Amino acid sequence: MERTITASLTKLGQEIADRLVDTRQRELEVITDLTNEQLLGPSMRIVEPPIWELGHVGWFQDRWILQNLDKSEPVDERADSLYDSFNVPNDQRPALRYPSLGQTIENITDILERVILRLDSHNPSDEELYFYNLVLNHEEMHSETMQHIRQTFGYPAPKLSVKKLNIKALNINPDYELHDVAIPGGTYMLGGTVDLPFIFDNEKWAHPVEIKPFHISATPVTFSEYRKFVDEGGYQERSIWSDEGWEWLKMSDQKHPIYWKMDNGGEWIWRWLDRWMALEPFLPIIHVNWFEANAFCKWADRRLPTEAEWELAASAAPSADGQSFTEEKRAYPWGDQHPRLEHANLNSAAGGIVDVRALPAGDSAFGLRQMIGNVWEWTASTFEPYPGYVIDPYDTYSEPSFSQQKVLRGGCWATRPHVIRNSFRNFYTPDRNNIFAGFRTVAK
Ligand code: AVJ
Ligand code: FE
Repeated sequence: MERTITASLTKLGQEIADRLVDTRQRELEVITDLTNEQLLGPSMRIVEPPIWELGHVGWFQDRWILQNLDKSEPVDERADSLYDSFNVPNDQRPALRYPSLGQTIENITDILERVILRLDSHNPSDEELYFYNLVLNHEEMHSETMQHIRQTFGYPAPKLSVKKLNIKALNINPDYELHDVAIPGGTYMLGGTVDLPFIFDNEKWAHPVEIKPFHISATPVTFSEYRKFVDEGGYQERSIWSDEGWEWLKMSDQKHPIYWKMDNGGEWIWRWLDRWMALEPFLPIIHVNWFEANAFCKWADRRLPTEAEWELAASAAPSADGQSFTEEKRAYPWGDQHPRLEHANLNSAAGGIVDVRALPAGDSAFGLRQMIGNVWEWTASTFEPYPGYVIDPYDTYSEPSFSQQKVLRGGCWATRPHVIRNSFRNFYTPDRNNIFAGFRTVAK
């Protein structure tokens, strides 16, 4: 940030201010290198123009901090008609007239400064803390959204100021063999717990679910496994697709994953941002939707894990006799420490996806690898409220998506570390294939 604000903040206030500035820096870095033309981009139903993304995160701060907590008037009176995600339909967004990049940055910086100055005069109460965490999480999620917009439009990688995840820290064991892990059944407490610093309404609260024993893959499905499915005619075989999946496939006319093509030598290559890459065998399959993930499973005679199975495998630890699991519930697969570089591919530290055999320090107690980071993982589960669900003040976050969308777990290479934990539930419609999603599978 160019401007610095000198305020005498409390320790808590300073922590929040630092995160707000850091989060904003990332949001600016993933957008502001783009040309005016790129800031609008081609008109698409599934993604927003980058310039919209930038104005939207500022609008959201104004809405939930300044207007909501202080009953102040909107800082920019046009903002509601441009950046309100719920009331301005997606397909109208590309046609709206947006302030220039410079003007947009000025507007959202003005809002951020007011938010930070507000921290100076009011040390946040618990209730207020919820809203600061909300705007932080929201902006962090949008910096990931912006990365998948860049992939969708074929833009080059942004230059980020981030500590890089280097090959040594990846700690890839070339002798690692892909395998299944046996998870015992029992009563598992699915959902978020009160010790977590911030969770969304859809994670509340941990409640008992009965889970039968199952065998789940230690790693996400790889390019090499998925390529076999494509080469053996998976996209032509009606019997392995659901009716809805087949309908999507016929509409989209895809014969392979969205960003793949065959090069002149008859080899599959895939587009990563603005370049074409070889299908490295141990990279995870990415950019497949829920229908494709299910068709692959049917072909492999396997299935997707339910979200409860996924969370159990990530959070629980085996009991001494190995017949069940203990009551321990870890915030992350490796324990309760905030993610570090060697735990998980997050925060754009690797600039993209990495080998599924990497990052052993992030293994779960049951020995599953990369449950957090690298690729989001589709689960079999439809996004539904947990028992006793109570809607949060930000009432259009979860509720409109219940029963309509599928749950993904675990975060991806571009997810910001504060956003993700074992209990975090992401959700998208089953046709979405431009997000950074793959999957792991369960034996039948
Ligand atoms: C939870 C990631 C699906 O991007 O649509 C951002 C997050 N909601 N602004 C999305 C969100 C409102 C949401 N996901
Ligand atoms: Fe948003």
